[in-house]
Amino acid sequence: MTAPPPFSVIEHETLDSTNDEACRLASDGVAEGTVVWAHRQKAGRGRRGRRWQSPEGNLYFSAILRPAASPAVAAQLSLVAAVAMADTLAELLPEGAPVEQKWPNDVLVDGKKIAGILLESSGAVADRVDWVVVGCGLNIAVAPDETTLPATCLAEEGATSVDRKAVLMALLDSLQRRRREWDTAGIAPVRTAWLSRARGLGHEITVRLPTHEFKGQFLDMDDSGALIVRLPDGSEKSVTAGDVFL
Ligand code: BTN
Repeated sequence: MTAPPPFSVIEHETLDSTNDEACRLASDGVAEGTVVWAHRQKAGRGRRGRRWQSPEGNLYFSAILRPAASPAVAAQLSLVAAVAMADTLAELLPEGAPVEQKWPNDVLVDGKKIAGILLESSGAVADRVDWVVVGCGLNIAVAPDETTLPATCLAEEGATSVDRKAVLMALLDSLQRRRREWDTAGIAPVRTAWLSRARGLGHEITVRLPTHEFKGQFLDMDDSGALIVRLPDGSEKSVTAGDVFL
């Protein structure tokens, strides 16, 4: 298998959304490894149709990948990116800083959200995606308010570097490393790394779905990225989409 090419960054002052721009470029056929970076977004998008506040000072970028994978397997790249994000934060923050993964792909520090990932992909031909856009938002200088979870940022957590470009480069390095590992070894090492930092593992959680919510014990995350929850009646439920409250 050939190694994915290194990243090449296109920098913008302002975009509506780096994901929108990256999806457009990807459909136009730009090379794998193209990264769209903006200093601010006017219409940053989060998961489940939410807004992602995008003031100047934080990091907003979207990387275009072209894995030879089905839609279900390509979706694992959101976990790959979430683990790469946590790897980088653990390097930038003081030793022992509580960097945690929150299902499905949030990264928390000290129990507060610092980063989120929004993955989008093309339709598939012969069960293979043409492209995947991995959109990453990381709070560096500003912890936005009006968020569903309490938020924090690198500056508030005592990071060694808060230079946006340096942080972007460190993140792309980690993403490249985890992507190569995923190409050669599959999802297992990423899943192991994710579980080793998972917030609330073994504890009671509330899972919110579009129509209802339920409580259970957070048992595991499987190879497909689904959350495994033990219900009060002892049965196990696999959750593929939703929000988790700890
Ligand atoms: C989440 O809801 O946690 C995911 C947030 C993803 C935000 C990033 S910022 C860069 C990229 N462009 C967007 O519009 N969204 C993603």
